[in-house]
Amino acid sequence: MSFTDRLGGLGFGGDYNPEQWPDEVRAEDVRLMTEAGVNLVTVGVFGWARVEPAPDKYDFSYFDAVMDELAAAGVTVDLATMTASPPPWLATEHPEILPVTQSGTVLAPGGRQHYCPSSPVYRDRAAKLVEALATHYQGHPALGFWHVGNEYGCHVAECFCEESARDFRRWLRRRYGDVEALNAAWCTDFWSQRYTSFDQILPPRLAPTYANPAQQLDFKSFSNEALRACFEIEAAILRRVTPDVPVLTNFLAHHKPVDLHSWADRMDIVGLDSYPDPFCPRSHVAAGLAYDLARGAHGGDPWYLVEQAPSAVNWRRRNGVKEPGLMRLWSWQAIAHGADAVLFFQWRQSRGGAEKFHSAMVPHAGPDTRVHREVAALGAELAAVPELAGTRVANDVAVLFDWNSWWALELDSRPSDGLKAVDRALDHYGPLFDLGVGVDVLPPGADLTPYRLVVVPNLYLLTDEHAHGLAGYVSAGGHLLVSFFTSVVDGNDRVHPGGCPGPLREALGLRVEEFRPAAEGEVFLLGDGTADLWREDVRVEGADVLLAFPDGTPAVTRNRFGTGTARYVTTRPDEKIMRAVLAEALAEAGAEPVLRGLPDGVQAAARTGGGAEFLLLLNHTDEARTVDLPHPLHHLLAPGRPEVEQVTLHPRDVAVLARHSRSEVS
Ligand code: GLA
Repeated sequence: MSFTDRLGGLGFGGDYNPEQWPDEVRAEDVRLMTEAGVNLVTVGVFGWARVEPAPDKYDFSYFDAVMDELAAAGVTVDLATMTASPPPWLATEHPEILPVTQSGTVLAPGGRQHYCPSSPVYRDRAAKLVEALATHYQGHPALGFWHVGNEYGCHVAECFCEESARDFRRWLRRRYGDVEALNAAWCTDFWSQRYTSFDQILPPRLAPTYANPAQQLDFKSFSNEALRACFEIEAAILRRVTPDVPVLTNFLAHHKPVDLHSWADRMDIVGLDSYPDPFCPRSHVAAGLAYDLARGAHGGDPWYLVEQAPSAVNWRRRNGVKEPGLMRLWSWQAIAHGADAVLFFQWRQSRGGAEKFHSAMVPHAGPDTRVHREVAALGAELAAVPELAGTRVANDVAVLFDWNSWWALELDSRPSDGLKAVDRALDHYGPLFDLGVGVDVLPPGADLTPYRLVVVPNLYLLTDEHAHGLAGYVSAGGHLLVSFFTSVVDGNDRVHPGGCPGPLREALGLRVEEFRPAAEGEVFLLGDGTADLWREDVRVEGADVLLAFPDGTPAVTRNRFGTGTARYVTTRPDEKIMRAVLAEALAEAGAEPVLRGLPDGVQAAARTGGGAEFLLLLNHTDEARTVDLPHPLHHLLAPGRPEVEQVTLHPRDVAVLARHSRSEVS
């Protein structure tokens, strides 16, 4: 049975933590869920202390009742493996599981996620719990998905304890084989860091000054893999005991420690948590980047929005509410970017504990509230378009993003601490979003042949292999746009021979002589606008200069290479210039927006599948907007699904359109 068949359409629901409430409340919960169209809930994320109150003494009776009631109501469960927050007895009996910070502080229990990812004791206790859980719930009619852990690395992404040090050394031995290879990779001849044995190597604990950058970079990779190993231990058990139940975990959006690309193919579905800030007018653009990345990480498959807030969160300095319509708009936005499920944290607002001021689908004030009414209305709306589930998003522009490069770029001792990988990606993704162009966000090793234009906002770290892949893409007729400080170092943070752009030099038709990072707040005149952050002294070697600074230094170049073109941008132009630069590259590549002539602030996205084509229109503004359609389409959210040639979107409004109404498709 496919995921879509199991849910019968799009998934809708949230984290359900009824343990916080008297048992009687569950009857109301289930009734309200049914009324609100909830078909999927995540259960048991914080259940460990309850199901294993003492070592190896399992008591599933509480969750049995919850699972049975949900099954009876037809609600599918994404059952958590309960390992995200160890119970107090475990930390008391085995304090060695507690994580240690870079400066040697032991993190205490009393919050959550207080475990060292490399701890054999933690891993063993987690594995035993998962074995018991999977064996107990195999075949349960409510069990639809396994939710492994919870937001890996959200609070503890790296641990610097002795156990982690041993695990890091094992990882380094596997990677380098012998210590001389490590010395060469880490350039340890500098600063007298030459090792004569792996046993001398430590995690990059707090040191008098910059720790070796290659050591820091390897530690980030190692820490990512230590967390991933925790996931894999659990997933292997689940796949053995319940081979038909899909396995997922929930990644955080824009989460630096966890390399989603290196985990995604181990998931049946990519799950993502997304908490855009309602106070930030462009946060939906950053969310879009995260969604396109989640989809791109799993071959374009539909992904699940596993958590979002119904209204405010409680963990920002100031926690803005989602004004009327915004929760609906941002939920549909996830679907526009390929999500097949829209879930929230959490179902009923906590009475006590750390998250009582985090909004929920059923607020403290009860179901007769704006938030709950909007939740229930969304549930009804999603249930009305089941045919969207399983359809796909296809684009002909790719933006490249890479965790290794992110880690390396933001280490200490760089030319400027102003370069942040996600911001740099947004400097390119934002104008593409505004131009109405659909984008796939992909890792540098992805197959680029389907794309007309590939944009590289900043890949400071680019391996020879990936650089040659990009050059090959261009020479075979692809169009590439690369921005500054790309292809500077190899996988060990060693500068490419000859400097930047290393193995991309021929394809770009230039070389960089000197980086000129801007002073804080410094702005340069460029064309009829400005630029900031960065400049480079570039020597062209065949590339044409499309735009130059007043002193003649190139700002944008274009090189013909093979049958394709490669542009290079040496600075951060203002938004208007960047949009024009990208528009020109798109035009040359023949890449089209989803819909021509869209009014400002309206996003259009297409999903196709099952013989149908869907067009989603999202008004991200606080004013009404009218969109003329190129041909009549059925308005699937309007009563009777009428055919329309024009759509007026109210502020924060959404339209879902299709060429055929459902009856004509089926
Ligand atoms: C994360 C966690 C949830 C909850 C939310 C609150 O996403 O997974 O348990 O704490 O944050 O926003």
